[in-house]
Amino acid sequence: MKKQIETERLILRELLFSDAEGMFELDSNPNVHLFIRNKPVESIDESVAVIENIQSQYKEFGIGRWAVILKETNEFLGWSGIKFITAELNNHRNIYEIGYRFIERYWGKGYATEAGQAFVNYAFNEMNIEVLYASADEQNKSSRKILEKLGLHYVNSFDYEGKLEAWYELKNPKI
Ligand SMILES: CC(C)(COP(=O)(O)OP(=O)(O)OC[C@H]1O[C@@H](n2cnc3c(N)ncnc32)[C@H](O)[C@@H]1OP(=O)(O)O)[C@@H](O)C(=O)NCCC(=O)NCCS
Repeated sequence: MKKQIETERLILRELLFSDAEGMFELDSNPNVHLFIRNKPVESIDESVAVIENIQSQYKEFGIGRWAVILKETNEFLGWSGIKFITAELNNHRNIYEIGYRFIERYWGKGYATEAGQAFVNYAFNEMNIEVLYASADEQNKSSRKILEKLGLHYVNSFDYEGKLEAWYELKNPKI
């Protein structure tokens, strides 16, 4: 059986094609895309393609964003987790990045922080990652607050496609 992580309220597991409807609700909402540059999707086929892409990352890198499921109701809330980024970003290459994206009606309940904390632990204790990175639009206050609650610290800001992006890092305390 595939690995999954259980937190107080959440199940974290790899994305499945059966998550496509949830992914479409997530990514077709312009409010979700306010601080991230990819345009909202317009068809469920695009969400299926996103899942396919993430599943190919599981095969290639052994990791990628995971689905976040509410234990009590089995609802798909969004995704969170670790992505291996090969493209250069703020002068870094081949890094592990933590990120999250939740359906709007589930915002403000602490789910992003709860899932994020579990992935910080997973990155450091299971994957033995040396440094975890993250970036967020400078104006994305809730995302930056979550990163700080997870223990990441602000390093600098850099230009990303004409907008300022805040860069965060956290070193593995065990290494
Ligand atoms: C960013 C996102 C995941 C936050 O989800 P969430 O469920 O609201 O997150 P949480 O409830 O775990 O925590 C949000 C924290 O930010 C705080 N916050 C929210 N809006 C804020 C604001 N405008 N200013 C300051 N703090 C704010 C909340 O009070 C909360 O902190 P608290 O727990 O100390 O009260 C969600 O808004 C989202 O999916 N946005 C779209 C995608 C996105 O931007 N992803 C991040 C890309 S870097």
